[in-house]
Amino acid sequence: MTKLIAHSSSALTGCTEVPGDKSISHRALIIGAVALGRTIVRGLLEAEDVLRTVSALTALGAIIKRSGEEWLIDGVGVGGLTAPEDVIDMGNSGTAARLLIGLLATHDIRAVVTGDHSLRSRPMDRVMEPLSLFGATFDAFEGRRLPLSMHGAAEPIPVEYEVPVASAQIKSALLFAGLNTPGITTIIEREATRDHTEKMLKNFGAEIHVEMAESHRITIRGYAELSGREVFIPGDPSSAAFPGVAALIVPGSEVTIRNIGVNPRRAGLFETLRDMGASLEIANKRILSGEPVADITFRHGPLTGADIPASRAPSMIDEYPIAAVAAAFASGQTLFRGLAELRVKESDRFIAIINGLTSCGVPVRAEGDDILVEGLNGQLPGGAKISVNLDHRVAMAYLVLGLGSEKPVEIDDATAIGTSFPGFLKLMRGLGAKIDSVES
Ligand code: S3P
Repeated sequence: MTKLIAHSSSALTGCTEVPGDKSISHRALIIGAVALGRTIVRGLLEAEDVLRTVSALTALGAIIKRSGEEWLIDGVGVGGLTAPEDVIDMGNSGTAARLLIGLLATHDIRAVVTGDHSLRSRPMDRVMEPLSLFGATFDAFEGRRLPLSMHGAAEPIPVEYEVPVASAQIKSALLFAGLNTPGITTIIEREATRDHTEKMLKNFGAEIHVEMAESHRITIRGYAELSGREVFIPGDPSSAAFPGVAALIVPGSEVTIRNIGVNPRRAGLFETLRDMGASLEIANKRILSGEPVADITFRHGPLTGADIPASRAPSMIDEYPIAAVAAAFASGQTLFRGLAELRVKESDRFIAIINGLTSCGVPVRAEGDDILVEGLNGQLPGGAKISVNLDHRVAMAYLVLGLGSEKPVEIDDATAIGTSFPGFLKLMRGLGAKIDSVES
């Protein structure tokens, strides 16, 4: 196991890019695999989570290979996946697992799906229940977790379903099931979640419509004829968050990150940081493969506490650990509201924020589903050893905290970082971050 120790660093500076967006990478592979003809993907995130999706789709009959900087996918067409010979292991990736289960739910094939210790503890009933309405059957551990054995519907029935929690994974799993179902599948979401699936399906030729009223009504026509496309994947805003916040909290820093995805449904952290008075400069905004992309410059400066509404949660759901670190460096209180979903991420991030900040000497408390952080105005003790429990974002968030705290912060296991951000250490060191690695 590799431990990482972050030390108080002097100014971080530079201009860099972060690896491709994880959510969009999974979707490009999945949609490419059920399109007809060749899909060419540039900027795919070559990280553990996404490579699990490559292996799973290959086991299901798609042909996927890397050629230079590109990934080439020869799809099988909607409904054309074939039964896997072995168990499908999705590793640490909840997104890959849930999206693939959705896709398989309307193929008349049997599959067994599992994952690592973290993924096997996460709820799958949130997709199993609505996917059963299409006619799929499931047999899951304790009725709700991986490993599960499933049989997709032989004659899928179109479904109308209102998603009970704000979750792009559930929405996307159902849209993928709807692809191989006759007629119209309708999904209603009360709170807008990331819309990469809708955008990409449309781009590949699906008949998909979104009616925006008080809630969103998304309809997709089944037996869709998708055809291969070229897809450019922007840098992941969820990864950019770590060097970005590091620059905001380490005095004298100025870091520019190019080609970051700035889809408004993902940009909640940037809004939150601005509410806290952060200096962010967004430049060169453009649209690539239907997704907004920009360059962002993050400059150190004073941060002040803010009240972050629950309505912001879907657009920054993966960013709370690093947002809590920014709040710890701010002056005054920051209240993050409506964080119930953090309990079912790669680890229980609600607890990871409370326990991790407390052990770094930051006053923090839970109030129901909210978290209140008392900012220390840049004067953080640090000096903690953090167990990351296979959670990449918890690992990176506390390393960033250690770059600005008095005493070093150690994380017990660097492995999980590779699930979303290969090259994190090199990139951070290149900007001037002092992070040591120790083999144990
Ligand atoms: C994701 C959706 C979010 C997010 C996850 C990626 C996606 O999960 O936390 O990291 O790609 O659809 P939920 O949909 O469960 O909120």
